[in-house]
Amino acid sequence: MQIIHTVEALRDVLQTKSNIGFVPTMGNLHAGHMHLVQIAQQHASFVVVSIFVNPLQFGAHEDLANYPRTLVADCEKLEQMDVDILFAPTVNALYPNYDGVELNQSMTVEPSPIAQILCGASRPGHFMGVATIVLKLFNIVQPSFAVFGQKDFQQLFIIQDMVRQFNLPITIMAGETVRESNGLAMSSRNGYLSDAEKPQAVQLVNALQSVVTFIHQGRQDYATLESDVQQQLTQLGWQVDYVSIRSAHTMMPATHLDEQLVVLGAAKLGNTRLIDNIQFCAKPLK
Ligand code: PAF
Repeated sequence: MQIIHTVEALRDVLQTKSNIGFVPTMGNLHAGHMHLVQIAQQHASFVVVSIFVNPLQFGAHEDLANYPRTLVADCEKLEQMDVDILFAPTVNALYPNYDGVELNQSMTVEPSPIAQILCGASRPGHFMGVATIVLKLFNIVQPSFAVFGQKDFQQLFIIQDMVRQFNLPITIMAGETVRESNGLAMSSRNGYLSDAEKPQAVQLVNALQSVVTFIHQGRQDYATLESDVQQQLTQLGWQVDYVSIRSAHTMMPATHLDEQLVVLGAAKLGNTRLIDNIQFCAKPLK
């Protein structure tokens, strides 16, 4: 595996390559990322993984400084997977106006209004930061396709929308959420959980699963169901941001006409903010 830190060196290597598969990450790689790499390898002739903790997608009081940076261990994992290139740029390489303090990225991608709801409501500017860095990375790598995890459902939706609206010649593929044996979605932020919180963290996906079960049992009062489940999580000690039942196609609040649904949740356990979602059919599969 080649490890490349500059845009120029990466472009140099990639100019002779075709059918490039790309997996953008922020590092601290776990089995969920490895699943995305496997998908890329199944479809691509050449696979590029990027590791870049993108300052533009973090709010002022978020965990940018503490975000786990584990480059050596990440390199070993990618080597073992036989990835072709790891692109690990510096902040300067991706933000040419960076002066050591401010990014000075005055041109950004303004994503559609979906970026303002759910996680976008509690993390203002987050999806602008994600869309902007992903567009930069797409311009640099020029992949045929890129793979993103379904755990970040809203992010995946916004990126698919960006690719469509900007006519980018890139196919977006989605990798299923990889879970611990108890059902907890793998996430770099799970590392923030204390030993006591770790077994408790599965309560989030269990709460979302209970929404699916209730809907399959015939409950149609989606708003009440959302607030009931939020209340249950609150009683278990979570600070709930949202539990929301949406159309999986539009991300608008689900109506009884929607067949493909997604229930999304975001909540804090102690100081750790976790997100998860389950996609499902309103009618149980027979
Ligand atoms: O999902 C992530 O790890 C990040 O949001 C991404 C897509 C790599 C952009 O920084």
